[in-house]
Amino acid sequence: MSFIVRVWDAPTRLFHWLLVFAVVSLVVTANLGGAAMVWHFRLGYGVLSLLLFRITWGFVGGYWSRFKTFTFHPSVVFNYLKGKGTSLESIGHNPIGSLSVMAMLLFLTLQVTTGLMSDDEILNSGPLTRFVSSEWVVLSTTYHKNIGKVVLLFLIVTHIIAIALYYFKKQINLVKPMITGDKTLDVEVTQSNDTHADHLKSVLILAVCVLIVFFSVSYLER
Ligand code: HEM
Repeated sequence: MSFIVRVWDAPTRLFHWLLVFAVVSLVVTANLGGAAMVWHFRLGYGVLSLLLFRITWGFVGGYWSRFKTFTFHPSVVFNYLKGKGTSLESIGHNPIGSLSVMAMLLFLTLQVTTGLMSDDEILNSGPLTRFVSSEWVVLSTTYHKNIGKVVLLFLIVTHIIAIALYYFKKQINLVKPMITGDKTLDVEVTQSNDTHADHLKSVLILAVCVLIVFFSVSYLER
């Protein structure tokens, strides 16, 4: 018998694909430089809003989007690595996938934060540069331009390779659930809530995150 389970609620899916769009656009605008940097900044504020949203959603969102459902004890991760994982650990993010998700969220947050304190010494400086020492600005700029970028690129490439390996080696399509929200499983498990009320809740949370970022940046740039 098989069961169709709503794993990824619509807000989580929308978060994911908006994040992909924003990160790709950030790379493009950073490489174009010049006038495109206005959009690099705007997209950076967009990613900050998305991250604030996702962190909040990790506590109040759909069941499988909550951090508690994809925080595993190290022994579970090691067992999974040794091929001794159970199918119940792979309903949402599996033990290895969860590490990759946590790392991406952490390094994206670091990338945005250091961006706020970066200065290219030509035209563009982040809104926090005025409030920190010049040593911090140099450190943040170096991290933002040389280290964080590479770490994120590595994490994203690994993320995409892992998804491709699941598809080609294990015949498991992880992308479809990130589009439709559903997985077909042979066990009946908790569904992620994904009703109109949940969507309204997510819109309100996102609106608050956007407003916090917008007003903070407007205030800092005065
Ligand atoms: C800029 C590039 C990308 C970034 C930063 C990124 C980031 C993320 C993050 C943060 C999550 C966790 C979602 C959540 O729980 O909120 C995730 C999951 C996922 N992403 Fe991406 N992603 C990227 C590109 C892609 C691409 C191109 C694909 C499709 C080929 C993809 C497919 C997936 C899938 C299927 C999952 C769920 C994995 C699972 O079942 O555990 N991602 N991604």
